[in-house]
Amino acid sequence: MILPIVAYGDPVLKRKARAIDSSYDGLDVLIASMWETMYHAHGVGLAAPQIGKSIRLFVIDGSPFADDEDASPSDHIVLKSFKKVFINAEIIAEQGDDFSFAEGCLSIPDIREEVTRPSVIRLRYQDEHFELHEEEFSGLAARIIQHEYDHIEGVLFTDKLSPLKKRLIKGRLEKISRGQVEAEYRMKFHLSKLKRK
Ligand code: NI
Repeated sequence: MILPIVAYGDPVLKRKARAIDSSYDGLDVLIASMWETMYHAHGVGLAAPQIGKSIRLFVIDGSPFADDEDASPSDHIVLKSFKKVFINAEIIAEQGDDFSFAEGCLSIPDIREEVTRPSVIRLRYQDEHFELHEEEFSGLAARIIQHEYDHIEGVLFTDKLSPLKKRLIKGRLEKISRGQVEAEYRMKFHLSKLKRK
């Protein structure tokens, strides 16, 4: 089922999400709906808070980024088959050179800004079968995870911008929270309480 995507301004996006276990009710259906919602909106990642659930779950399919102009040859190889469910993820280390990449977010339509983050992460997470993994990710794969991981920590990429950049986009963010934005997908706005196609 395609779910409405929660827009900037909803407190659920600022909340640190809670861990879940295999007894979580309806998890398979929820994950299937998150894939469907993400693909419908042409996203490469979607975190549960973005559909209004404050739990530590996100899904990623990085394949559309495989041919991005910023993708290195190794990004290209990794991203082509980078499709995963991440449950209870924990970044246990961030290292490598900082690099800058223009991020966007399905909860913040029409805004893209350069964000600087370390290029390598070590991540512990469970997959959809609650099997535990510990893996290192780098390049754009790491970048997508860092962005989605921030969502389950209650952080948005706009929180990471310089004070000047924040001031420059403040008005546009307020408009999004009021529902004054056009998106190709259905969104849920906290302030206006109206739903749009
Ligand atoms: Ni996002």
